[in-house]
Amino acid sequence: MKNREVLKSSPIGIFDSGVGGLTVFNEIRKALPHEDLIYLGDTARVPYGSKSSDVIKRYSRQNAEFLLSKAVGMIVVACNTASAVSVQYLRDLFPDIPVVGVIDPVVEYIKELSVNNVAVLGTNTTIESGAYQKALLRYRDFNIFSQPCPLFVPLVEEGLFNEPITIMAIDMYLRDLKEAGMDAVILGCTHYPMLKKQIGKYFGQRTLVFDTAYHTALKVSELRKADGRQSENIKGKAVFYVTDSVSSFKKTAEMFLGYDISNIHHI
Ligand code: DGL
Repeated sequence: MKNREVLKSSPIGIFDSGVGGLTVFNEIRKALPHEDLIYLGDTARVPYGSKSSDVIKRYSRQNAEFLLSKAVGMIVVACNTASAVSVQYLRDLFPDIPVVGVIDPVVEYIKELSVNNVAVLGTNTTIESGAYQKALLRYRDFNIFSQPCPLFVPLVEEGLFNEPITIMAIDMYLRDLKEAGMDAVILGCTHYPMLKKQIGKYFGQRTLVFDTAYHTALKVSELRKADGRQSENIKGKAVFYVTDSVSSFKKTAEMFLGYDISNIHHI
């Protein structure tokens, strides 16, 4: 077992099926600018959102093993689909390392609010897994409306944020929810925060739109601080690993982050 001193000075490992998890990376970077981060994007095997839970568990284990080989002190499962099916599995496999998924942090926040109609948007596998639904219902009887929005992922990766095709896709997936009247909408996929403004505008002001990335970063930051790690005055390093082309990751990653990155390696 790793001792606590080693864990708290180790980098934070983050994995996702591809680039989308950079929305989580970005929030962790903002919350903990002094931490070293290691990001793994499994770009050769993306998308996870249409794959079975057995396959996603296998990929998640391999991703976690890779991060552990880089001596990380925490694993953040940035992918909603992988969080939906494999967080507990990873915790059982690697009991000495904190494993943080993206579902519980946002649910723990929402449970305190006076909201009743809650929409959960995600990939097909996330929605089918019922993970958000179960997590919410553990606390109280929310009225939950689940909606897979698979076209949002390719639209975001193409950088189509405000084009008519995206506005049409938003309307196609969300019209019934809008008519039913939502108090809260959970953006349960790494890519959807890139459409937060558009989705917020579509539902109107009375609907709260939640970003799982932000709440996950708060949780990571809480755990790190509880571990006694102090902020230092040096900027943390970020290293990226991808399982497919470095150049295509770099291009899409820079669109997600809004700044240039280096230190990307193919594995
Ligand atoms: N990262 C995935 C998620 O958050 C979206 C992309 C994929 O399907 O792999 O569910």
